[in-house]
Amino acid sequence: MLPSEANPDLLVGMETHDDAGIYRISNDLALVQTVDFFTPILDDPNDFGQIAVANSLSDIYAMGGKPKTGLNIVGYPPDIIDKNTIAEILKGGYNKAKEAGVHILGGHSVKDPELKFGMAVTGLIHPDEIIHNSGAKVGDALILTKPLGTGILTTALKNEQLSHDLLSLVSSVMKRLNRAASESMKKFDAHACTDITGYGLLGHLFEMVQASGVSARVFSAKVPLLPGALDFSKKKQLPGGLKDNQEYLQKQVRKKSPIDENLLNILFDPQTSGGLLISISSEQAQSLLRELGNDHNDYAIVGEITTREEFPVEIV
Ligand code: CO
Ligand code: CO
Ligand code: CO
Repeated sequence: MLPSEANPDLLVGMETHDDAGIYRISNDLALVQTVDFFTPILDDPNDFGQIAVANSLSDIYAMGGKPKTGLNIVGYPPDIIDKNTIAEILKGGYNKAKEAGVHILGGHSVKDPELKFGMAVTGLIHPDEIIHNSGAKVGDALILTKPLGTGILTTALKNEQLSHDLLSLVSSVMKRLNRAASESMKKFDAHACTDITGYGLLGHLFEMVQASGVSARVFSAKVPLLPGALDFSKKKQLPGGLKDNQEYLQKQVRKKSPIDENLLNILFDPQTSGGLLISISSEQAQSLLRELGNDHNDYAIVGEITTREEFPVEIV
């Protein structure tokens, strides 16, 4: 644990486990900063580059910020991975950053026994417009903006069980920026937001309700799922992180009714470049859903915020 710092300009520090750090530089401007990098989850280097950058930008979008600049982070074994592969990863990352209006200012690479890529991102936000993970209010609806199951599907890919069609689908979902979802959210009075990544829907929801001093109920039948996710769960294509999440959350999550084991697995599934989870009044939730549109057909109200109960998260 690092010592905490008391500084009035440090608007979001490490204490609240929010998505990104925020530092005020003037009354109407603050920096939003985050970093993420990981090992390839699929074979196509260009797709991997795009996904890694879309994933890195998500923390900025979850806070309501506008990402502006990025620095590449690369680790690779030069004797195994050739220069063209790295160039292709960087090109994918560059194009995704460009799509987001983010300028890449440079970066750094190191020799590493395992290939890794990601980005340190800086964004801007008005200090009054920060959307914390700690503002969820009783009665709020919870909106999720991408379907779940990327961990399970990429595990099936690793085990050579994923069809070409499902690979291109899961890849396109991971490549999709959360920018549109974030911009739509900012037109309303969202109370809290976080992006869904390694801790899965239930893990990130748990962090949100802990920070907000409330509980949540998840409507398991309403959660948007990637095609194939239930099937591959049945076939035990479960990433290691899924079990870790289940163990970590064992005492925090209660099933109110019997729930299909494979559906439950997906709620714990670690996501790469997952969607935003937005807590917003139930009146505004319908308007936000309309604003998000249904071009992807995978935005949904997946739960609600309740008063603090014995279990932080209940699944029905
Ligand atoms: Co995050
Ligand atoms: Co992150
Ligand atoms: Co946040």
